[in-house]
Amino acid sequence: MASSGSASWVTLALLLFITLAATANGDELSTSYYEKTCPNVQHVVRSVMASSVAAQPRMAPAVLRLFFHDCFINGCDASVLLDTAPFSASEKDVEPNASLTGYTVIDDIKSHYCPATVSCADVIALASRDAIALLGGPTWSVPLGRKDSRFAANPESTEKGLPSPHDILGELVTMFSRLNLDARDMTALSDAHTVGMADCMHYSDRVYSTDRDEEIDPSFAQTMQLMCQGPSGKAPFDVQTPMRFDNAYYRNLIARRGLLTSDQTLYGGGGLQDNLVEMYSTDGEAFARDFAKAMVKMGNVPPPMGMPVEVRLKCSTANY
Ligand code: HEM
Repeated sequence: MASSGSASWVTLALLLFITLAATANGDELSTSYYEKTCPNVQHVVRSVMASSVAAQPRMAPAVLRLFFHDCFINGCDASVLLDTAPFSASEKDVEPNASLTGYTVIDDIKSHYCPATVSCADVIALASRDAIALLGGPTWSVPLGRKDSRFAANPESTEKGLPSPHDILGELVTMFSRLNLDARDMTALSDAHTVGMADCMHYSDRVYSTDRDEEIDPSFAQTMQLMCQGPSGKAPFDVQTPMRFDNAYYRNLIARRGLLTSDQTLYGGGGLQDNLVEMYSTDGEAFARDFAKAMVKMGNVPPPMGMPVEVRLKCSTANY
């Protein structure tokens, strides 16, 4: 009896040791991280993404949004993929995440190749880069070596940690600065809203307000009101080229055709912020450079100190 008791204490101590040994420690990421251990990973991610997006184009914006929502809450640690567990509620169920999709393509990639070696967090980072390239946007080398957190963030911090579509400039600057992303990074990253769609509940405040004609192009407001009342209630961020990753987002802002309040707030207040939007609207190369840089910077946000991490075998559950 006594010996089986002490054996289980030893097991418990061992588990604790392993867990503590593998806590988030801010190790440097590297583009050659899987060169020896899983050399074809980039090729596999690209080809699974290509076939998924060919079959279902909406997977591309969906995966990109997953990456943003992952990195903003507890760093880029794939915590957004975890289902509810006995001691950890899922981030998926919190309102801003309720409309996330794209989980299936991440699971699909994960099951294809090196599931015990390549983290779910790295799969999301690579898949987002490839999603953008498949939509005709810029590409870059993705630093790798992220680990997956064993626990999701609690619902309250998930809700507070994500920007709201009703936020105005100052609030957005503060939220992004918590992740060491400055106003320039934020302005570049927001171009992600050149692809994909939003639900009426997220843009109705903007398109139905009648007392702010100077802040919204009236014909745009009218079109969006019709979409709001349409069967899905969804509207594309960019009406002209909804699935092309370009810098039309900034031209839309200048034309007062930003869909969300949090989009339009990036332009119109004057100063450096307006200069930036104007520059990105005409200089596609400067935009592509800054966007890629900001994606790498956002992708570098580590999990909180002391968070136990691992390479999850299945992205929706911790390993044991
Ligand atoms: C600046 C703060 C941001 C706010 C307030 C915000 C909010 C939103 C909202 C409300 C939607 C519509 C969701 C729906 O109705 O289904 C959306 C969609 C989207 N967001 Fe953001 N977002 C922000 C920044 C970003 C960033 C930085 C990225 C990526 C780098 C991103 C990527 C996307 C994409 C790709 C979609 C379209 C998803 C789809 O069509 O499936 N967003 N965002």
